[in-house]
Order: sequence, then structure tokens, then C-alpha cells
Amino acid sequence: MTSQSVTPDVHFPVERLNSVETPCYYYDTRLLGDTLDAVNTAASHPAFRVHYAVKANTNPGILSRVAAAGLGADTVSIGEVEAAIEAGFPAGSIVFAGVGKTDREITRALRLGVGCLNVESAEELDAIVRIAAETGIKAPVALRINPEIDAHTHHYITTGLAENKFGIAISMLRPLMERCRDSQHLQFRGLHFHIGSQITDLTPYRLLCERINTLRQEYEDFDIPWINVGGGLGIDYDHPDIHPIPDFDSYFDVFARHLHLSPGQEVHFELGRSIVAQCGSLITRVTYVKQGVAKKFIIVDAGMTDLIRPALYQAHHKIDNITSAADAEEVYDVVGPVCESSDCFGRDERLPLTQRGDLLALRSAGAYGEVMASAYNCRHLPGSLFSDSF
Ligand code: LLP
Repeated sequence: MTSQSVTPDVHFPVERLNSVETPCYYYDTRLLGDTLDAVNTAASHPAFRVHYAVKANTNPGILSRVAAAGLGADTVSIGEVEAAIEAGFPAGSIVFAGVGKTDREITRALRLGVGCLNVESAEELDAIVRIAAETGIKAPVALRINPEIDAHTHHYITTGLAENKFGIAISMLRPLMERCRDSQHLQFRGLHFHIGSQITDLTPYRLLCERINTLRQEYEDFDIPWINVGGGLGIDYDHPDIHPIPDFDSYFDVFARHLHLSPGQEVHFELGRSIVAQCGSLITRVTYVKQGVAKKFIIVDAGMTDLIRPALYQAHHKIDNITSAADAEEVYDVVGPVCESSDCFGRDERLPLTQRGDLLALRSAGAYGEVMASAYNCRHLPGSLFSDSF
């Protein structure tokens, strides 16, 4: 992927960070603002609507800034719906998705007036019809289809294959479309797709457009106001300063060129990672530099409880020592304090000579970082700081 615009590096206010409690997430609000501007510009096609996939980061400071930029919200629990409303997203701009919505969540979402429920099974549709009838609120629904497209990403974050739990098989679609069209309790909004996450080759998106075009022909007899193509655009984890903003132009261009639309039809996108990943870093302090038999270890005060992506998906976040002024470099394994061997942020990392007390930044951690933190080992949750307000 190529960089869309040259934005200055994330600038770390080292002196101020030196006085805060670590580990903590640091968000560069200027980069977040530039990224939101880039998304809005690239998606300026009149039929395009971008929703922020709230699951990537629910910090209220992130949510309110994204809401202020005019994006809608894509949510997967009633907790996320409520957090989005609290942060300023209008209820009508919120899509509520997820394979396991409970009756309580469906009822509350209808009462709050969410814009759409993305339905993942015939069984869920039964529940929605029943609750809509009970509450007297017509339910706006889209059907999530499993497009069976391989996004060639990590197997834990691939979602569009038949073997995944997500969505409705194309072969099972027609009776559900008919039910959505004919039920007095439902308002049919459209079709929803999502093929996976951290997708850096745009080819699967072109294949998705082709799959959708074929489906639209097959369902010519239905009015389909919205086509929701999901999210998943990847970022460059290795070069956060060279590619601080993903190539949104090329991404949206795939859909502008390959997706056939009817007049008035809208295309919805649900981007999470590509909007918030690069503006966030996990700041952690070096507790010890330990000489082992064959290796040197940097033991930091952040662990897999603060950033689980390396342990869970073998992900790598670029590591910068933001306080060392040394020219000389050394090779270290960078590990956390948690009693699990997977609590490791990097093996054989070449870093400037590092000492106890130095600060490291684990870069590109704004998406699926803070929001996936846990209190395992009775560890405290990491704090957060915004560059424009501390
Ligand atoms: N829409 C749906 C239906 C999704 O399931 C997801 C992500 C998104 C949109 C947003 O995808 P994004 O644009 O952020 O790639 N925790 C993992 C990622 C899990 C993604 C789950 N679904 C990670 O840290 O890589």
C-alpha cells in the first residue's frame, strides 16, 4: 500500500510522558483528526456512508472525536450502542450487528431507535419479529451474508468463509429476504457483508463487489436500499511513520469502480482499525534490562493484559525507545511481567542501548489495544492520555 499523504510522525512529548503513570495509552489527536479528514475526503461519493467500527476503540475521547467528524457507528453489543449514543452518535446512524444478540439487547436497541439491526440467522430474525410485534416498533433490518471470500488474513480475523460462524449462507437467503419484505414488523434496509480484518491487498474487495453484483441480479425483484460492505482495511504496522494514514483513496475507489448501484442505493462501510490504529501508542517503562544466558531481555511494565494482540494473533507492533539518546544499538527480547511465555512484544528487536527507566512506545496500538485490555493477574487497566488535553 502506498501512503496517501505525508503527515508528520507521531510526536511524543517525552518530558510530560515521563511524569505519568505507565503503562498508558497515548493518543495523538492531530493524527486522528488528519485520518478522519482523509476518510471523509476519500469517501465523498454521494452514495457512500462510513460507520466507525466501535469495537476497535471505545475510549470516550476517541468516540466523541469520531462522532464529531460525522461518521456513523457500527456496534456489536448494547453496551457499544449506549457508549456510541453517549459519545454523540445519533441513534439513527448506529448499526447493531453480532451473531448472538439477546432478547434484552434487541428490545433495548429498538427502543433506542438504532438505524439498523444486522441479522445473522433465521433464528435471530424470528426473535426480532417477535420482539418487534411485542413492542409495536417496526424493526429496521439488514441481512448479513457470508460471501465465502478468503481475505487471506490471520485465521482468527477471517470472517467471510463458510466455516465461520458469521452470516447467512447465500443458499439460505431467499426465504429470509421474502420474510423481510413481507413482514409488517420489519423494515428491510439491505444486505451486509464483511470478509475479515487487517486486509492489505485490495483484491478480495474487488471479488466482494463481483459477488454482490451477481447477488443483486439474482434479487432484482427486491428493493435493496443499502449495501453494507463491512470493514477490514489494514494498516502498515511495520512503518507507522511512513504510512501513518492508510490509502483510503484506493480502497474506496475499488467500490466506486466495481460495485454496480441502483439509483438511490447507498453503500455503507464499517472501518475500525484503519481509523484509529495509528494515532495510538502504548507507553511503557523499562523495569529491568536482564542479562540471560543467550539473550538480553527488556522487561517492561506493560504486559499482554494491556496489549493482547502479539499474544493472541502473533501480531507485531513496532517498538521505539523514546527516551534513549544512545547511538549504539543492541538486540533484545521485549517482554512483559505476566506469567505466560506468550507475554512477549518482540523477539530479537534491534533498539538503541536501553536502560532501566527508559520509556518505550508500542506503536499502532490505537485499534484493538486499550479496548481488549484485561485485569488478569489483578493488574490495573492502563490509563489513557490525549495529546491535546494533557
Ligand atoms: N464489521 C464487522 C462485521 C466486523 O466484524 C469488524 C471487525 C469490522 C467491521 C471492523 O473491522 P476493521 O475495519 O477494524 O478491520 N481484534 C482483532 C480484530 C478483530 C476484528 C473483528 N471484526 C485484531 O486485533 O486484529
